[in-house]
Amino acid sequence: MTRPTPLIAGNWKMNGSGAALAEARAVADGLAGVTARVAICPPAVLVSRAADALAGGPVEVGGQDIHPKASGAHTGDISAEMLVDAGATLVILGHSERRADHGETDADVAEKVRAALRAGLEPIVCVGETLAQREAGDALKVVTGQVRASLPPELADAAFSVAYEPVWAIGTGLTPTTPQIEDVHHAIRTTLTHMFGPAGEKAPILYGGSVKPSNAAEILNAAEVGGALVGGASLKAEDFLGIIRAV
Ligand code: PGA
Repeated sequence: MTRPTPLIAGNWKMNGSGAALAEARAVADGLAGVTARVAICPPAVLVSRAADALAGGPVEVGGQDIHPKASGAHTGDISAEMLVDAGATLVILGHSERRADHGETDADVAEKVRAALRAGLEPIVCVGETLAQREAGDALKVVTGQVRASLPPELADAAFSVAYEPVWAIGTGLTPTTPQIEDVHHAIRTTLTHMFGPAGEKAPILYGGSVKPSNAAEILNAAEVGGALVGGASLKAEDFLGIIRAV
């Protein structure tokens, strides 16, 4: 089967300021000849400025989280509709930092995915095992369980991607071996195909966790790796472009 168009998404997390938008513009300016889809997901307060700065260019803008409701008394939260209004087309959901810091469950993530679809946002749904789970031999069981419980049936009719991000590889400089990545990605593909049929066959499965220019080519060429979710290395245009050009 032909590979789906790869997606390289930068997750700025709680980093960046107005001045960092120059890095986003430098990424857009460096994309000549690149066939991958490229997205930058800045903190919520920068989404609308990033969308303005990148308007009409090849880089899409995404959010990092949403509340499941469209509006209401939810101090500090933002809705999918608000992200769309600010110019976002994608949203990262169920990142392990949200799951750990804010107690998000698979059911919470599934509700947020539904909210994203309601507003027309394309979700990037994150899954991944902890080191203890991997060492116990449970990585595949944990990850496929998260996929089954975090992705609602409505995705059968939608564009979406899944990001496999082993918790122990995020921000640590550690990465799984290529066979370990391929094992998990194959298991996710089998699960997605079983759940969603054709939509599950073509959804990109991104890898995330310490992706950098020096390891990007090997990771991105691994079987069933359909792109990358990049944290730290997405903050500098030069590093992010080095990863994007490895597709
Ligand atoms: P990292 O983060 O690239 O800094 O490891 C990836 C992520 O958490 O999305």
